Amino acid sequence: MDVDPGTVAPRYHSGFGNQFSSEALPGALPTGQNSPQKAPYGLYAEQFSGTAFTVPRHEARRTWLYRIRPSALHPRFEPLARQLQGGPLGEPTPNRLRWDPLPLPASPTDFVDGWVAMAANAAPDQPAGCSLYHYAANRDMDRVFYNADGELLLVPELGRLRVLTELGVLDIQPLEIAVIPRGLKFRVHLPDGQARGYLAENHGMALRLPDLGPIGSNGLANPRDFLAPVAQFQDSSASTVLVQKFLGRLWGCELDHSPLDVVAWHGNNVPYKYDLRLFNTLGTVSYDHPDPSIFTVLTSPGTVPGMANMDFVIFPPRWMVADNTFRPPWFHRNLMNEYMGLIQGAYDAKAEGFVPGGASLHSCMSAHGPDAETCAKAVAATLTPSRIEQTMAFMFETSQVLRPSRHALECAQLQPGYDACWASLPSTFDPNRRTP
Ligand SMILES: [Fe+2]
Repeated sequence: MDVDPGTVAPRYHSGFGNQFSSEALPGALPTGQNSPQKAPYGLYAEQFSGTAFTVPRHEARRTWLYRIRPSALHPRFEPLARQLQGGPLGEPTPNRLRWDPLPLPASPTDFVDGWVAMAANAAPDQPAGCSLYHYAANRDMDRVFYNADGELLLVPELGRLRVLTELGVLDIQPLEIAVIPRGLKFRVHLPDGQARGYLAENHGMALRLPDLGPIGSNGLANPRDFLAPVAQFQDSSASTVLVQKFLGRLWGCELDHSPLDVVAWHGNNVPYKYDLRLFNTLGTVSYDHPDPSIFTVLTSPGTVPGMANMDFVIFPPRWMVADNTFRPPWFHRNLMNEYMGLIQGAYDAKAEGFVPGGASLHSCMSAHGPDAETCAKAVAATLTPSRIEQTMAFMFETSQVLRPSRHALECAQLQPGYDACWASLPSTFDPNRRTP
């Protein structure tokens, strides 16, 4: 039953927010109670809580783990010499920003060393907000990591990831995402030898499916398409470095065993994956362009109803059929802050400059929308049903202003001329001609 990280085949439970039960050995889950005097197979019982004990029941997330050694079995953590890239936050700016993709690393870099801080809107000790990173890596992790600072949303853009967690294994590739609960131990292998993508670290309420309101009981991301891993474990006494991120800094210690040794578990505080190609995309079948909230995959609620701490929104392939309508995203100035990335293809509001692996930031009330070329095409287009193919843009949308990291403001990937994409928009106003 030992898990070989290189060859193990992942298996999954289907559903979102379920109370899953999972065991890698028959009968490893205790029946009738959580912490019997003697757990099956001589395992230790350990509770893994993702929420405070007394939150409302529908908010509660916790999982009981039955493991070979309890997590408490570790020596003192010491700060690591190599910390995350990206440095502290820089000066806030109201300017529109756009970045080219992060270059792939030139020296051996594992998934954790490959993080580059790009923006954040709260310190990690706050109970709300998020921090955003890009990652680029070219080496399997031989250490195990957990993040005490928040839940992690992984959005690969290049290369597959094999995520070996305490609860089992998730394989994801570009066009899929994974969410790792705060504190869950995991390591990342790179089946393609290199990988690049985006990370959102959610300090606030856990991500969940959005309410559907008048949409009804189907649509957007369907619960059955979310996959949580089936229990798999390592029984190894090999020396393993355990790294944690705690208030933004990396700390490490050396274990004399693998901490991925959970033989059985039950609960709802679990990692999961989702294939973005399964999103049931909804939109207008008459006219006009609905707000992009119609594309929300996951949301972390904020304290003001309807004003998310963080939304994860996608812009997938879809039919465009609206009559008498400016079909790309319109020009807009919004309350929320929009950090966008691109997983494949092109985004329908930009003719050039926004490429897979790149990113853009449009902060609260910053004016943006289609560039001049896209605008001219959209106004002149003959409107027949058309399909946007080969695209997958996404947005981390946040209620609090994102401050770019110092790295994000100074790196070579920051595009100096982003404002110019709107500069050639002409005035087409003619007070003597109402019909264009
Ligand atoms: Fe926008």
